[in-house]
Amino acid sequence: MRNVKRILVHLKSGSKYLVKELHDDYHTQNGVVKASDFRKASLESSTGEKFLCLEPNFIDLWENLKRGPQIITQKDIGLILAKTGVNSKSKVVDAGGGSGSLCLALANVCNEVTTYEVNPEHYDVVSRNKQLLGAKNLIIKQANVYEGIKEKKLDLITLDLPEPWKVVEHAQDSLKTGGFLVVYLPNLNQMKMFIDSCRRTKIKVLDTLELLERKWVIEDRIMRPEFQMLGHTGFLTFCRRL
Ligand SMILES: C[S@@+](CC[C@H](N)C(=O)[O-])C[C@H]1O[C@@H](n2cnc3c(N)ncnc32)[C@H](O)[C@@H]1O
Repeated sequence: MRNVKRILVHLKSGSKYLVKELHDDYHTQNGVVKASDFRKASLESSTGEKFLCLEPNFIDLWENLKRGPQIITQKDIGLILAKTGVNSKSKVVDAGGGSGSLCLALANVCNEVTTYEVNPEHYDVVSRNKQLLGAKNLIIKQANVYEGIKEKKLDLITLDLPEPWKVVEHAQDSLKTGGFLVVYLPNLNQMKMFIDSCRRTKIKVLDTLELLERKWVIEDRIMRPEFQMLGHTGFLTFCRRL
């Protein structure tokens, strides 16, 4: 059950507030919103500022994930979803859980996701984020994925950890034929080691790529890319079990 009941969006600034208690008035930097107004889709605070009052959707909550280790960003999550075609029937294993960014995004579209996280502190972070998102179909295991994967007939395994080559044999045993293995790594030398480890296995490497994201400023007479862009985050290698 999600503990966030409403999202208040301040129209002027775009600031978002997460409301957890519907019976209490909510204090924002732009005035107080009355509890009796939470039923309205648009409302005004005590200082006359306009707000939208929305049912929380996945992305409103995802933006508020508690941060532990470095997360996988939306651009890379989007490509993983697009290139593996996972859907509401899919069974997935993810490792390591980290902050839960990827496994929660997968749980938002898949039938069941199990994430392995070896570090107890990160296990707590991902557990808290599971609660924030209300992701009942996410199973979090405090376990070392290098020692094995219990789940079988998987549609997808995602790996975001330092030594993915230690998971190739387990992935071979746990993926269904045609299932996908996706590896995310910041350095190419690690990726080369992973790709080499797939030789003479049933894991066929399809593509290695990275995505660069450049936002644009479009206002009045200005139309140009932002000076800073989200450049290198990580390399992605997509594989399929033969
Ligand atoms: C970069 S973080 C993963 C971030 C995550 N993909 C996300 O989007 O939030 C890498 C995580 O892998 C975990 N890890 C490293 N080795 C592991 C192993 N052998 N088994 C399970 N988890 C492992 C680390 O503790 C760390 O939390």
